[in-house]
Amino acid sequence: MDLPIFPIHKKPEYLLECCKLINSEWKRSETARLHSLRNSCDRLPVSLILLKQNQVIGHAKLSRIPSIEDACFLESVVIKSDLRGQGYGKYFMRKVEEYCDDKLKLQTIFLSTKGQEKFYEKLGYVECEPIQLYGAPVSQNFRTKFELLKPSTPKIALSNISKTYMYKDIRNKLIKK
Ligand code: ACO
Repeated sequence: MDLPIFPIHKKPEYLLECCKLINSEWKRSETARLHSLRNSCDRLPVSLILLKQNQVIGHAKLSRIPSIEDACFLESVVIKSDLRGQGYGKYFMRKVEEYCDDKLKLQTIFLSTKGQEKFYEKLGYVECEPIQLYGAPVSQNFRTKFELLKPSTPKIALSNISKTYMYKDIRNKLIKK
């Protein structure tokens, strides 16, 4: 598989198609969706798209976590419904991680999911405590903070009551080709 990914702001001609793909999974007003996509920039937030034969077949958004340096929050990961289960999601996530590492110089990707835990586990993500998306920057050593985020309760207990929070240290664990 050799498909390109692009930040949406570098390919504005795909804005509407990208909006439709995301809305096919999570319905929201087109205006609100386009507004969010138009915030995409060279740093964070950025919306990445996966193209196949000039069609948008995947989308993922990366946002800042003000309280944690060198990290981002991944959301709205979606693969076109008729192409699921064929390895596109895994391929896309590898490209997203490479983008985070090479272009954004980030160390950690956080996400929350309800239902796709197995998909992310297969990609090397592990469960952690819910993270605080907003708040003052963490002054302590990042490694220490990172350790504190490791789960203290069994996975099943967390996923039964709410979303599961997961993270991956991408510098150490980029998905193997
Ligand atoms: N449960 C268990 N295993 C799964 C699941 C699942 N729901 N989905 C994928 N997998 C496994 C596959 O079997 C495959 O395993 P393998 O490597 O051993 O063969 C591996 O994960 C990779 O699967 P892909 O075919 O690459 O995944 P796909 O292209 O279907 O994309 C995705 C996965 C993105 C979750 C897709 O199903 C989708 O768009 N779902 C709807 C939207 C959604 O729920 N997105 C996630 C929201 S959470 C967030 O954005 C942080």
